Amino acid sequence: MRILLVGSGGREHALAWKLARSARCEQLWIAPGNPGTAEIGINVELDASDAAGIVGLATREQIDLVVVGPEAPLVAGISEVCEAIDVPVFGPSSQAAQIEGSKAFAKALMAEAGVPTAAHHVFEDAAAAHAFVADQGGTWVVKADGLAAGKGVVVPADHRETLAAISTVAATKAGTRLILEEKLSGPEVSLLAICDGEHAVPLLAAQDHKRIGEGDTGPNTGGMGAYAPTPLLPADQAQALVDVVFTPILRTMASRQIPYRGILYAGLMLTPDGVRVLEYNARFGDPETQALLPLLKSDLVDLAWRAATGTLKDVQLSWEAGAAVCVVLAAANYPDTPRTGDPIQGLDTLPADVLAFHAGTRRRADGALVTAGGRVLGITAVEADLAQARQKAYAAVDQIHFDGMQVRRDIAVQGVR
Ligand SMILES: Nc1ncnc2c1ncn2[C@@H]1O[C@H](COP(=O)(O)OP(=O)(O)O)[C@@H](O)[C@H]1O
Ligand SMILES: [Mg+2]
Repeated sequence: MRILLVGSGGREHALAWKLARSARCEQLWIAPGNPGTAEIGINVELDASDAAGIVGLATREQIDLVVVGPEAPLVAGISEVCEAIDVPVFGPSSQAAQIEGSKAFAKALMAEAGVPTAAHHVFEDAAAAHAFVADQGGTWVVKADGLAAGKGVVVPADHRETLAAISTVAATKAGTRLILEEKLSGPEVSLLAICDGEHAVPLLAAQDHKRIGEGDTGPNTGGMGAYAPTPLLPADQAQALVDVVFTPILRTMASRQIPYRGILYAGLMLTPDGVRVLEYNARFGDPETQALLPLLKSDLVDLAWRAATGTLKDVQLSWEAGAAVCVVLAAANYPDTPRTGDPIQGLDTLPADVLAFHAGTRRRADGALVTAGGRVLGITAVEADLAQARQKAYAAVDQIHFDGMQVRRDIAVQGVR
């Protein structure tokens, strides 16, 4: 099969690595890709959101299957334009991707499907939300409705902070509509499922680490590391959750004529009162994918094809025994304004069985590899258990250097018992 992968981050390097391992992958193109994917397939200089460019490439190269990594091209409608030229796409339509693109849409869907989630209220502007909180009192989680690159949610400590958060969130680019949610507590777990519009096949449960600082302190990032499986949600419990968090959503979306095909990512909170869905994402998590795919034994090309063509029924995944840990190496000044251009050393010294997924890297004209984004690399190790996987990942991390490198030393600690 001739496959086109869209995106350029660490998630896409992991996807390219896994797709290329399939006997069914004849040739792989990545638009635009990164220096890591350049070693696996053919990078094509195209913006991930350039739908016309993607369609042109798919036609020219007679692509059989398009796999979409990031959310922005999905929300912009890349699936529809590919389907219009009869190329199956692993990724939802723009309407279905609203499950991530609009939190108000997602909450309404959850209510209709009977999915357990935080109680919520939707407001068209900050003034209305402010009036509600002033009247009701209490502490509410404040969320922007639209995509805000991780900056659209504030979890306030008290009533006063709630009022301040309404103004902060309303000022983001995500639009003026706001959601106020009941504040829940508990550990968070990411549960992803491959969906074909009707059936959902769950992956292992993973945990990511969003804050920049150890012990989950400091500002939010795209993710500083991840591990899988997490003992917080063993495989049998994850399987049992399919009928709670995925199947009802697929059924409801199908009944609204917006079938969901692709990866559906449920952000779960394990509260004292049971599992609650905090949000859905319309794609693989980054960096969860860099921990999950190295554990997956099943053929990803086959799975993506089945999801895209509605033939996932009765499919079961097979997994490596053991666990995977992915540690992200971030640039100086991340997450504010990451410094770029720092030369990266030591990648060539890593053991063969450690995976170094590129995210924000660039090849200079002289061939040197330098930093080119906030999250630079994701270093993944797979071992018999989490403790050993951690050890191996960090031993590899210690062989890599670039000026200003930021690393959290506590990735997966919560999973090691
Ligand atoms: N109802 C809630 N109660 C407590 N914390 C929450 C709640 N909703 C979200 N959060 C916290 O805020 C984070 C971001 O919220 P989420 O809905 O996942 O938005 P996004 O990922 O789009 O920024 C979550 O990972 C969680 O830590
Ligand atoms: Mg989230």
